[in-house]
Amino acid sequence: MKHLVSIADLDRDEIEEILDLADRLKSERYKGMIAEYLKNKSLAMIFELPSTRTRVSFEVAMSDLGGHALYLGWNDLQLGRGEPIKDTARVLSRYVHGVMIRARNHSIIKEFAEHSSIPVINGLSNLEHPCQILADLMTIREYKGTLSKIKLVWVGDGNNVCNSLILASSIMGISMVYSTPPGYEPNQEIVEKAKSLGGDIAYVREPDEAVAGADVIYTDVWTSMGQEEEREKRLKIFREYQVNTSLVEKANEDVIVLHCLPAHRGEEITDEVMESSNSVVYDQAENRLHAQKAILVKLLGE
Ligand code: CP
Ligand code: NVA
Repeated sequence: MKHLVSIADLDRDEIEEILDLADRLKSERYKGMIAEYLKNKSLAMIFELPSTRTRVSFEVAMSDLGGHALYLGWNDLQLGRGEPIKDTARVLSRYVHGVMIRARNHSIIKEFAEHSSIPVINGLSNLEHPCQILADLMTIREYKGTLSKIKLVWVGDGNNVCNSLILASSIMGISMVYSTPPGYEPNQEIVEKAKSLGGDIAYVREPDEAVAGADVIYTDVWTSMGQEEEREKRLKIFREYQVNTSLVEKANEDVIVLHCLPAHRGEEITDEVMESSNSVVYDQAENRLHAQKAILVKLLGE
């Protein structure tokens, strides 16, 4: 039994296995082939925060695989009235075969996993977003044919997606540069961990300099869920970190632009870049479905 709380819960071989399976499930879906790998299995999905992609792709993934998903809003559960996480984890372990949780605080997902006898999947926390990163790696591989010798540049806020991407880059041998305003760097414990895994991870303050030679540019919102009170301040601080056409032109000609979505056009990314041929954000969003199927088969399958 294995959890996916951090992307670093998976090693390189396991990530490659998930990506290979995701590719296969994608091509099978295109051919109309559906194999019921999770027949009669149930996944509980607990959401403390809103979601479009994670919610819909997990629900459709379970249904395509012959299983069933339950959407459970935090406040619809007794959790919202203070039932302890450990009791909820133990009880759900008696009913379903896996739990996906999106929570503000990473420690909630860790505590849930500690008390659960079924696999727990992190569907986003303030610290990490591992399911997103598996879809991102799948997308990079589709467009670049490989994950090695890739230069990936993160521009913007050193947030949950950036943290998981740093760990994944170090595991998969991607060279990653992050360009964030000072004070908004990714979690430094994660950066240290990634470096200790042999990761080629560097900080370059100026986005113009950072994107030179980039194969992939990745950005995300300047204000993540739970940080809404800081929005006005962040709009000013991040102004120089917008992914616009002039920045994209400083990268390699065949650079792909990724964004986990939802995007704020005119803030972290321009409408022009979102709509450009460099942008592969909708393929990336689609790949959430295929990558998550592979995760579910690996964690919940026989
Ligand atoms: N990228 C992502 O996780 O999107 P949602 O918040 O819509 O799930
Ligand atoms: N960093 C964003 C990602 C949303 C999918 C957030 O946490 O709100």
